[in-house]
Parts: sequence; structure tokens; C-alpha cells
Amino acid sequence: MIEEALVAWLHYLSVFALAASIAAELALYRREMSAQAQTILRRVDLGYGLAAILVLATGLVRVFWLGKGASYYAQNGFFWALVVLFAAVGLLSIPPTIHYLRWKGEAPITVDARRFRHVRLHLILEAALFPLLPLCAVLMARGYG
Ligand code: HEM
Repeated sequence: MIEEALVAWLHYLSVFALAASIAAELALYRREMSAQAQTILRRVDLGYGLAAILVLATGLVRVFWLGKGASYYAQNGFFWALVVLFAAVGLLSIPPTIHYLRWKGEAPITVDARRFRHVRLHLILEAALFPLLPLCAVLMARGYG
């Protein structure tokens, strides 16, 4: 079925975009941020949000319409691990987003050292958990769990 292949393609694309956004945020986030760097980081974070929505939407389409059937996934432990980890990565991304949204992007800023460590820790945890997501997906797709 061509629809199944196209949704799988979109699922991969959005997963890659999500991984790229996390990497870009880690690379761009600094204590000293120019007005331009603030704007870029906010745009990358918006891209992260859109990619996450597309991952979820394409994932749900595969669960309910194009995959092995919802009951297959409902009985699979790695599916639920994937869902919990996806939610955890999403929750971890909330404090960085709130932090970026407070910036006006009009003048250079120096982020308070404690806040910088706190936000950076969230980004590092997102990056650290991320590799477990495709691991859960490939195990779930092959009937483990
Ligand atoms: C960042 C999070 C995610 C990553 C990295 C990811 C990754 C993957 C990968 C690599 C596959 C292909 C597995 C294979 O055929 O070997 C896949 C398939 C799939 N994913 Fe995701 N996924 C994510 C989130 C989700 C979510 C949130 C859902 C459900 C709501 C979901 C549902 C599915 C389904 C149903 C399949 C098809 C499995 C099959 O062939 O039976 N994914 N995912």
C-alpha cells in the first residue's frame, strides 16, 4: 500500500527533524546570546514543536489505520515504553521553551548561570533519552515485548 509507505516516510522525516532540532538547540544555546541567536533558537524550538506534532500524528495514523492494528500495539510493552519516553522528552522540552519565550530578541542577553545549567540539563536529558525511542520502535515492530 503506497499510503503506508508515504506515512512511514513522513514518520521518519519528522523523527529526523526532531533529532536535528534537539542537536541544534544544544549547539546554539549559550549564556551569551545575541539578539539574532535568540531569534534563531526560538525558530528552531518552533520547528521542534512542529516536528513532534508530526511524529505523533504519523505515529497515531500507523497505530490506528496503516500498521499491524491497534490491538497489536496495545499489547506490546515496547509500544508503551515508546509512548512514555516520547511524553518524557516532550515534558523535558517545556522549561527550555518557556525560557526562550521570555526573550524579546531585541538586545543581547547574558543568561543567569543557574538558569543556564538548568535549561541545558533539560536539553542534555532530551538528547540522552532520544536514542531509546527508535530502539523501542524497532523492537515493537518486530514483535518483541
Ligand atoms: C521520537 C519518537 C519516535 C521515534 C524515534 C520513532 C521511530 C520509529 C521507527 C524507527 C519506526 C520503524 C520501525 C521499523 O519498522 O523497524 C517506527 C515505526 C512506527 N512508529 Fe514510531 N517513532 C516515534 C514515535 C512514535 C509514536 C509517538 C507513535 C505512536 C503514537 C509511533 C508509532 C509507530 C508505529 C505504529 C510504527 C509502525 C511499527 C510497525 O511496523 O509495526 N511512533 N517509529
